[in-house]
Amino acid sequence: MSYAQIVGWGYAVPSRIMTNLDLEKMVDTSDEWIRSRTGISERRIAGPKETTGTLAIRAAQNALQVADLSPSKVDLIIVATSTPDNPMPAVASQVQDGIGASRAGAFDLNAACSGFVYAMSVASGLIAGGLHERILVIGADTMSRIVDWSDRSTCVLFGDGAGAILLQRSETPTGLRAAVLGSDGSGINSLYIPAGGSRLPLTPELLQSRKNCISMKGSEVYRFAVQTVAHATNQALNAAGLDIDDIDLFIPHQANIRIIQSAAKSLKIPAEKVYTNVHRYGNTSAASIPIALCEAVESGRVQAGANLAIVGFGAGLSWGAAVVQWGLDTTPVPISWWKSVVRNFHRREAVVRSFALRTQRRLDALRRLNGVHEA
Ligand code: ACO
Repeated sequence: MSYAQIVGWGYAVPSRIMTNLDLEKMVDTSDEWIRSRTGISERRIAGPKETTGTLAIRAAQNALQVADLSPSKVDLIIVATSTPDNPMPAVASQVQDGIGASRAGAFDLNAACSGFVYAMSVASGLIAGGLHERILVIGADTMSRIVDWSDRSTCVLFGDGAGAILLQRSETPTGLRAAVLGSDGSGINSLYIPAGGSRLPLTPELLQSRKNCISMKGSEVYRFAVQTVAHATNQALNAAGLDIDDIDLFIPHQANIRIIQSAAKSLKIPAEKVYTNVHRYGNTSAASIPIALCEAVESGRVQAGANLAIVGFGAGLSWGAAVVQWGLDTTPVPISWWKSVVRNFHRREAVVRSFALRTQRRLDALRRLNGVHEA
Protein backbone atom coordinates (compact mmCIF):
# COMPACT_ATOMS: atom_id res chain seq x y z
CA MET A 1 0.00 0.00 0.00
CA SER A 2 1.30 3.46 -0.91
CA TYR A 3 0.77 6.69 1.00
CA ALA A 4 1.18 10.36 0.11
CA GLN A 5 3.65 11.95 2.47
CA ILE A 6 4.00 15.72 2.83
CA VAL A 7 7.67 16.32 2.04
CA GLY A 8 7.60 20.02 1.18
CA TRP A 9 5.63 23.08 2.28
CA GLY A 10 5.75 26.80 1.59
CA TYR A 11 3.60 29.89 1.36
CA ALA A 12 3.63 33.37 -0.08
CA VAL A 13 1.69 36.48 0.87
CA PRO A 14 1.84 39.98 -0.59
CA SER A 15 3.96 42.46 1.36
CA ARG A 16 1.24 45.12 1.39
CA ILE A 17 -0.72 45.13 4.65
CA MET A 18 -4.20 46.63 4.82
CA THR A 19 -5.31 47.30 8.38
CA ASN A 20 -8.80 47.82 9.74
CA LEU A 21 -7.88 51.49 10.16
CA ASP A 22 -7.17 51.66 6.41
CA LEU A 23 -10.64 50.20 5.80
CA GLU A 24 -12.23 52.80 8.09
CA LYS A 25 -11.12 55.38 5.50
CA MET A 26 -12.76 53.44 2.65
CA VAL A 27 -16.15 52.27 3.97
CA ASP A 28 -18.45 52.93 6.93
CA THR A 29 -16.86 50.49 9.36
CA SER A 30 -14.66 50.46 12.44
CA ASP A 31 -11.68 48.54 13.73
CA GLU A 32 -13.79 47.61 16.76
CA TRP A 33 -16.63 46.15 14.61
CA ILE A 34 -14.30 44.13 12.41
CA ARG A 35 -12.23 42.73 15.27
CA SER A 36 -15.21 41.88 17.49
CA ARG A 37 -17.29 40.27 14.67
CA THR A 38 -14.51 38.52 12.78
CA GLY A 39 -11.23 38.57 14.74
CA ILE A 40 -9.46 40.17 11.77
CA SER A 41 -7.00 43.03 12.37
CA GLU A 42 -5.24 43.14 9.02
CA ARG A 43 -4.95 41.33 5.69
CA ARG A 44 -2.47 41.17 2.82
CA ILE A 45 -3.42 42.74 -0.50
CA ALA A 46 -1.78 41.88 -3.82
CA GLY A 47 0.27 44.61 -5.49
CA PRO A 48 -0.34 45.60 -9.13
CA LYS A 49 2.03 42.93 -10.46
CA GLU A 50 0.89 40.18 -8.10
CA THR A 51 -1.77 37.67 -9.10
CA THR A 52 -3.01 34.27 -7.95
CA GLY A 53 -0.46 32.79 -10.38
CA THR A 54 2.55 34.74 -9.09
CA LEU A 55 1.68 33.98 -5.45
CA ALA A 56 1.14 30.29 -6.31
CA ILE A 57 4.53 30.14 -8.06
CA ARG A 58 6.31 31.62 -5.03
CA ALA A 59 4.56 29.20 -2.65
CA ALA A 60 5.42 26.26 -4.93
CA GLN A 61 9.08 27.28 -5.15
CA ASN A 62 9.24 27.49 -1.35
CA ALA A 63 7.69 24.01 -1.02
CA LEU A 64 10.20 22.56 -3.50
CA GLN A 65 13.00 24.23 -1.57
CA VAL A 66 11.93 22.53 1.68
CA ALA A 67 11.62 19.20 -0.16
CA ASP A 68 15.01 19.81 -1.77
CA LEU A 69 13.58 18.66 -5.07
CA SER A 70 14.13 19.68 -8.67
CA PRO A 71 10.91 20.92 -10.35
CA SER A 72 11.50 18.42 -13.15
CA LYS A 73 10.62 15.63 -10.68
CA VAL A 74 7.04 16.90 -10.16
CA ASP A 75 4.40 14.78 -11.95
CA LEU A 76 1.30 16.88 -11.42
CA ILE A 77 0.31 20.34 -10.17
CA ILE A 78 -3.14 21.01 -8.75
CA VAL A 79 -4.10 24.57 -7.87
CA ALA A 80 -7.21 25.07 -5.77
CA THR A 81 -8.50 28.53 -6.57
CA SER A 82 -11.64 30.49 -7.36
CA THR A 83 -9.72 33.58 -8.50
CA PRO A 84 -7.64 32.37 -11.47
CA ASP A 85 -5.61 34.96 -13.38
CA ASN A 86 -7.83 34.27 -16.42
CA PRO A 87 -11.02 32.22 -16.88
CA MET A 88 -8.73 29.96 -18.89
CA PRO A 89 -6.13 28.50 -18.91
CA ALA A 90 -5.56 27.05 -15.47
CA VAL A 91 -3.32 28.80 -12.96
CA ALA A 92 -1.67 25.39 -12.55
CA SER A 93 -0.27 25.73 -16.10
CA GLN A 94 1.26 29.07 -15.16
CA VAL A 95 2.83 27.43 -12.12
CA GLN A 96 4.12 24.56 -14.27
CA ASP A 97 5.85 27.05 -16.56
CA GLY A 98 6.90 29.43 -13.78
CA ILE A 99 8.71 26.82 -11.71
CA GLY A 100 10.00 24.86 -14.73
CA ALA A 101 8.15 21.62 -13.94
CA SER A 102 8.90 20.31 -17.43
CA ARG A 103 7.25 16.87 -16.93
CA ALA A 104 4.16 17.89 -14.94
CA GLY A 105 0.49 17.83 -15.83
CA ALA A 106 -1.52 20.72 -14.44
CA PHE A 107 -5.11 21.59 -13.59
CA ASP A 108 -7.14 23.88 -11.35
CA LEU A 109 -9.83 22.81 -8.95
CA ASN A 110 -12.57 25.14 -7.75
CA ALA A 111 -14.23 24.29 -4.47
CA ALA A 112 -13.88 27.85 -3.10
CA CYS A 113 -12.54 27.93 0.46
CA SER A 114 -12.80 24.12 0.73
CA GLY A 115 -10.52 23.78 -2.31
CA PHE A 116 -7.30 22.84 -0.55
CA VAL A 117 -8.88 19.90 1.30
CA TYR A 118 -10.43 18.74 -1.98
CA ALA A 119 -7.14 19.08 -3.86
CA MET A 120 -5.17 17.28 -1.19
CA SER A 121 -7.69 14.42 -1.21
CA VAL A 122 -7.52 14.09 -5.01
CA ALA A 123 -3.72 14.20 -5.00
CA SER A 124 -3.41 11.68 -2.17
CA GLY A 125 -5.75 9.30 -4.04
CA LEU A 126 -3.74 9.61 -7.27
CA ILE A 127 -0.53 8.82 -5.41
CA ALA A 128 -2.01 5.97 -3.35
CA GLY A 129 -3.51 4.54 -6.56
CA GLY A 130 -0.07 4.46 -8.17
CA LEU A 131 -0.78 6.99 -10.94
CA HIS A 132 1.75 9.59 -9.80
CA GLU A 133 4.71 9.83 -7.49
CA ARG A 134 4.96 13.53 -6.67
CA ILE A 135 2.18 16.09 -6.74
CA LEU A 136 2.27 19.79 -5.85
CA VAL A 137 -0.97 20.85 -4.19
CA ILE A 138 -1.48 24.60 -3.98
CA GLY A 139 -4.25 26.73 -2.52
CA ALA A 140 -4.08 30.27 -3.91
CA ASP A 141 -6.47 33.19 -4.11
CA THR A 142 -6.43 36.94 -4.67
CA MET A 143 -9.78 37.74 -3.13
CA SER A 144 -8.97 41.47 -3.27
CA ARG A 145 -9.64 41.31 -7.02
CA ILE A 146 -13.20 40.00 -6.63
CA VAL A 147 -14.50 41.92 -3.62
CA ASP A 148 -16.60 45.01 -3.99
CA TRP A 149 -14.50 47.59 -2.16
CA SER A 150 -17.61 49.68 -1.50
CA ASP A 151 -19.46 46.81 0.25
CA ARG A 152 -18.53 46.90 3.94
CA SER A 153 -20.19 43.55 4.64
CA THR A 154 -17.69 41.65 2.47
CA CYS A 155 -14.60 43.79 1.78
CA VAL A 156 -13.41 43.66 5.40
CA LEU A 157 -13.30 39.86 5.43
CA PHE A 158 -10.86 38.82 2.73
CA GLY A 159 -7.15 38.84 1.91
CA ASP A 160 -4.69 37.37 -0.60
CA GLY A 161 -2.10 34.59 -0.42
CA ALA A 162 -0.99 31.12 -1.46
CA GLY A 163 0.17 27.97 0.31
CA ALA A 164 1.63 24.80 -1.15
CA ILE A 165 2.55 21.28 -0.14
CA LEU A 166 4.48 18.66 -2.05
CA LEU A 167 3.14 15.13 -1.70
CA GLN A 168 5.42 12.20 -2.43
CA ARG A 169 4.73 8.48 -2.54
CA SER A 170 5.86 6.63 0.57
CA GLU A 171 5.46 3.07 1.83
CA THR A 172 5.25 4.33 5.43
CA PRO A 173 1.71 5.03 6.68
CA THR A 174 1.54 8.84 6.65
CA GLY A 175 -0.33 11.75 5.09
CA LEU A 176 -4.07 11.71 4.55
CA ARG A 177 -5.72 9.20 6.87
CA ALA A 178 -9.31 10.08 6.03
CA ALA A 179 -11.25 12.79 4.24
CA VAL A 180 -14.89 13.85 4.08
CA LEU A 181 -15.94 16.02 1.15
CA GLY A 182 -19.40 17.54 0.93
CA SER A 183 -21.58 19.91 -1.02
CA ASP A 184 -25.04 21.42 -0.73
CA GLY A 185 -25.63 23.17 -4.04
CA SER A 186 -29.03 24.43 -2.90
CA GLY A 187 -26.96 27.11 -1.13
CA ILE A 188 -25.32 28.40 -4.30
CA ASN A 189 -26.82 31.88 -3.91
CA SER A 190 -25.63 32.27 -0.31
CA LEU A 191 -22.14 33.06 -1.55
CA TYR A 192 -21.38 33.62 -5.20
CA ILE A 193 -20.25 35.92 -7.98
CA PRO A 194 -23.42 36.66 -9.96
CA ALA A 195 -21.88 37.57 -13.34
CA GLY A 196 -18.87 36.87 -15.51
CA GLY A 197 -19.63 33.21 -16.21
CA SER A 198 -21.65 31.46 -18.92
CA ARG A 199 -24.96 32.31 -17.24
CA LEU A 200 -24.43 36.08 -17.22
CA PRO A 201 -21.49 37.11 -19.39
CA LEU A 202 -20.17 40.53 -18.39
CA THR A 203 -21.77 43.65 -19.81
CA PRO A 204 -21.03 47.29 -18.96
CA GLU A 205 -24.30 47.36 -16.95
CA LEU A 206 -23.34 44.27 -14.91
CA LEU A 207 -19.92 45.76 -14.24
CA GLN A 208 -21.50 49.05 -13.23
CA SER A 209 -23.69 47.24 -10.68
CA ARG A 210 -20.62 45.24 -9.50
CA LYS A 211 -22.18 41.87 -10.31
CA ASN A 212 -18.64 40.65 -11.04
CA CYS A 213 -17.90 40.81 -7.29
CA ILE A 214 -18.66 38.53 -4.35
CA SER A 215 -22.22 38.57 -3.12
CA MET A 216 -22.73 36.95 0.27
CA LYS A 217 -25.54 36.40 2.74
CA GLY A 218 -23.19 36.58 5.70
CA SER A 219 -25.47 35.27 8.45
CA GLU A 220 -26.59 32.30 6.28
CA VAL A 221 -22.97 31.35 5.58
CA TYR A 222 -22.15 31.83 9.25
CA ARG A 223 -24.92 29.43 10.35
CA PHE A 224 -23.87 26.87 7.72
CA ALA A 225 -20.24 27.09 8.82
CA VAL A 226 -20.95 26.70 12.52
CA GLN A 227 -23.05 23.58 11.85
CA THR A 228 -20.73 22.07 9.28
CA VAL A 229 -17.20 22.54 10.62
CA ALA A 230 -17.61 20.42 13.76
CA HIS A 231 -19.84 17.85 12.04
CA ALA A 232 -17.47 17.27 9.11
CA THR A 233 -14.45 17.13 11.40
CA ASN A 234 -16.15 14.50 13.55
CA GLN A 235 -16.98 12.48 10.42
CA ALA A 236 -13.33 12.60 9.30
CA LEU A 237 -12.20 11.56 12.79
CA ASN A 238 -14.61 8.60 12.73
CA ALA A 239 -13.40 7.58 9.29
CA ALA A 240 -9.79 7.69 10.53
CA GLY A 241 -10.72 5.69 13.65
CA LEU A 242 -9.53 8.52 15.88
CA ASP A 243 -10.94 10.54 18.73
CA ILE A 244 -10.64 14.32 19.10
CA ASP A 245 -8.13 13.74 21.92
CA ASP A 246 -5.83 12.06 19.35
CA ILE A 247 -5.60 15.33 17.41
CA ASP A 248 -2.46 17.35 18.12
CA LEU A 249 -3.44 20.39 16.08
CA PHE A 250 -6.72 21.54 14.56
CA ILE A 251 -6.29 23.79 11.51
CA PRO A 252 -9.65 25.14 10.38
CA HIS A 253 -10.31 27.47 7.45
CA GLN A 254 -9.53 30.97 8.70
CA ALA A 255 -12.70 32.90 7.90
CA ASN A 256 -13.92 34.21 11.23
CA ILE A 257 -12.59 33.68 14.76
CA ARG A 258 -16.14 33.23 16.09
CA ILE A 259 -16.74 30.31 13.69
CA ILE A 260 -13.41 28.76 14.75
CA GLN A 261 -14.17 29.19 18.47
CA SER A 262 -17.65 27.80 18.09
CA ALA A 263 -16.33 24.73 16.21
CA ALA A 264 -13.59 24.20 18.81
CA LYS A 265 -16.21 24.33 21.56
CA SER A 266 -18.47 21.79 19.81
CA LEU A 267 -15.50 19.52 19.16
CA LYS A 268 -14.30 19.94 22.76
CA ILE A 269 -10.77 20.71 21.59
CA PRO A 270 -8.75 23.10 23.80
CA ALA A 271 -7.72 26.50 22.40
CA GLU A 272 -4.01 25.63 22.56
CA LYS A 273 -4.61 22.87 19.99
CA VAL A 274 -6.30 25.23 17.53
CA TYR A 275 -4.18 27.14 15.02
CA THR A 276 -5.40 30.62 14.13
CA ASN A 277 -3.91 33.40 12.04
CA VAL A 278 -7.14 35.00 10.81
CA HIS A 279 -6.20 38.18 12.70
CA ARG A 280 -3.19 38.69 10.38
CA TYR A 281 -4.48 37.49 7.01
CA GLY A 282 -8.30 37.55 7.02
CA ASN A 283 -9.97 34.97 4.81
CA THR A 284 -7.58 33.95 2.01
CA SER A 285 -10.04 31.32 0.73
CA ALA A 286 -8.28 28.21 -0.65
CA ALA A 287 -4.94 29.53 0.64
CA SER A 288 -5.99 29.81 4.26
CA ILE A 289 -5.43 26.19 5.40
CA PRO A 290 -2.05 25.67 3.67
CA ILE A 291 -0.75 29.05 4.89
CA ALA A 292 -1.83 28.15 8.44
CA LEU A 293 -0.29 24.68 8.09
CA CYS A 294 3.05 26.13 6.92
CA GLU A 295 3.11 28.66 9.75
CA ALA A 296 2.27 25.96 12.28
CA VAL A 297 5.15 23.84 11.00
CA GLU A 298 7.55 26.81 11.00
CA SER A 299 6.62 27.73 14.55
CA GLY A 300 7.37 24.19 15.77
CA ARG A 301 3.75 23.22 16.46
CA VAL A 302 3.83 20.18 14.16
CA GLN A 303 6.16 17.30 14.98
CA ALA A 304 6.75 13.95 13.27
CA GLY A 305 3.86 11.60 14.05
CA ALA A 306 1.42 14.44 14.86
CA ASN A 307 -2.22 14.02 13.89
CA LEU A 308 -3.71 17.11 12.30
CA ALA A 309 -7.37 17.83 11.57
CA ILE A 310 -8.02 20.30 8.75
CA VAL A 311 -11.42 21.57 7.71
CA GLY A 312 -12.58 24.00 5.04
CA PHE A 313 -15.99 25.40 4.10
CA GLY A 314 -17.27 27.96 1.66
CA ALA A 315 -19.09 28.74 -1.54
CA GLY A 316 -20.95 25.89 -3.14
CA LEU A 317 -21.92 25.51 -0.44
CA SER A 318 -19.02 23.13 0.03
CA TRP A 319 -16.98 21.62 2.82
CA GLY A 320 -14.08 19.27 3.31
CA ALA A 321 -12.48 17.84 6.44
CA ALA A 322 -9.45 15.59 6.69
CA VAL A 323 -7.21 13.90 9.20
CA VAL A 324 -3.55 14.08 8.26
CA GLN A 325 -0.66 12.32 9.91
CA TRP A 326 2.54 14.33 9.69
CA GLY A 327 5.49 12.15 8.80
CA LEU A 328 8.64 14.26 8.67
CA ASP A 329 10.93 15.78 11.22
CA THR A 330 10.34 19.53 10.96
CA THR A 331 13.55 20.79 12.55
CA PRO A 332 14.91 23.38 10.12
CA VAL A 333 18.12 22.21 8.46
CA PRO A 334 20.69 24.92 7.61
CA ILE A 335 21.03 25.26 3.83
CA SER A 336 24.54 24.71 2.48
CA TRP A 337 25.91 27.26 -0.03
CA TRP A 338 25.93 24.50 -2.64
CA LYS A 339 22.21 23.80 -2.25
CA SER A 340 21.30 27.47 -2.46
CA VAL A 341 23.31 27.68 -5.71
CA VAL A 342 21.33 24.70 -7.09
CA ARG A 343 18.01 26.28 -6.01
CA ASN A 344 18.87 29.60 -7.64
CA PHE A 345 19.89 27.69 -10.74
CA HIS A 346 16.47 25.92 -10.87
CA ARG A 347 14.65 29.26 -10.57
CA ARG A 348 16.76 30.90 -13.30
CA GLU A 349 16.53 27.78 -15.45
CA ALA A 350 12.71 28.00 -15.28
CA VAL A 351 12.77 31.64 -16.43
CA VAL A 352 15.18 30.88 -19.29
CA ARG A 353 13.23 27.75 -20.27
CA SER A 354 9.96 29.69 -20.41
CA PHE A 355 11.58 32.53 -22.41
CA ALA A 356 13.12 30.05 -24.87
CA LEU A 357 9.81 28.21 -25.38
CA ARG A 358 7.89 31.46 -25.91
CA THR A 359 10.51 32.73 -28.36
CA GLN A 360 10.44 29.42 -30.22
CA ARG A 361 6.65 29.71 -30.48
CA ARG A 362 6.90 33.26 -31.90
CA LEU A 363 9.58 32.22 -34.41
CA ASP A 364 7.47 29.24 -35.54
CA ALA A 365 4.49 31.55 -36.04
CA LEU A 366 6.66 34.00 -38.06
CA ARG A 367 8.03 31.15 -40.18
CA ARG A 368 4.51 29.91 -40.89
CA LEU A 369 3.43 33.44 -41.82
CA ASN A 370 6.39 33.85 -44.19
CA GLY A 371 5.63 30.42 -45.68
CA VAL A 372 2.06 31.51 -46.39
CA HIS A 373 3.24 34.74 -48.03
CA GLU A 374 5.87 32.96 -50.18
CA ALA A 375 3.31 30.36 -51.27
N1 ACO B 1 -18.80 47.43 9.64
C1 ACO B 1 -19.81 47.86 10.38
N2 ACO B 1 -21.04 47.34 10.31
C2 ACO B 1 -21.22 46.32 9.47
C3 ACO B 1 -20.20 45.81 8.66
C4 ACO B 1 -18.95 46.42 8.77
N3 ACO B 1 -17.89 46.01 8.06
N4 ACO B 1 -20.67 44.78 7.93
C5 ACO B 1 -21.98 44.65 8.26
N5 ACO B 1 -22.31 45.59 9.20
C6 ACO B 1 -23.59 45.80 9.83
C7 ACO B 1 -24.74 45.26 9.02
O1 ACO B 1 -25.14 46.21 8.05
C8 ACO B 1 -25.78 45.04 10.09
O2 ACO B 1 -26.37 46.29 10.35
P1 ACO B 1 -27.96 46.38 10.60
O3 ACO B 1 -28.20 45.52 11.80
O4 ACO B 1 -28.16 47.84 10.80
O5 ACO B 1 -28.57 45.82 9.35
C9 ACO B 1 -24.98 44.67 11.32
O6 ACO B 1 -23.62 45.08 11.04
C10 ACO B 1 -24.97 43.19 11.64
O7 ACO B 1 -24.76 42.48 10.43
P2 ACO B 1 -24.68 40.92 10.42
O8 ACO B 1 -24.48 40.47 9.01
O9 ACO B 1 -25.86 40.36 11.18
O10 ACO B 1 -23.37 40.68 11.29
P3 ACO B 1 -22.78 39.33 11.78
O11 ACO B 1 -22.57 39.38 13.23
O12 ACO B 1 -23.53 38.16 11.20
O13 ACO B 1 -21.34 39.32 11.10
C11 ACO B 1 -20.19 38.46 9.20
C12 ACO B 1 -21.22 39.45 9.70
C13 ACO B 1 -18.86 38.79 9.86
C14 ACO B 1 -20.07 38.62 7.69
C15 ACO B 1 -20.62 37.03 9.57
O14 ACO B 1 -21.95 36.83 9.15
C16 ACO B 1 -19.75 35.98 8.95
O15 ACO B 1 -18.59 35.87 9.27
N6 ACO B 1 -20.33 35.14 8.06
C17 ACO B 1 -19.57 34.06 7.44
C18 ACO B 1 -18.80 34.65 6.29
C19 ACO B 1 -17.80 33.70 5.74
O16 ACO B 1 -17.10 33.02 6.46
N7 ACO B 1 -17.70 33.74 4.41
C20 ACO B 1 -16.66 33.11 3.74
C21 ACO B 1 -16.90 31.69 3.39
S1 ACO B 1 -15.52 31.12 2.56
C22 ACO B 1 -15.61 31.27 0.85
O17 ACO B 1 -15.97 30.36 0.16
C23 ACO B 1 -15.20 32.56 0.17
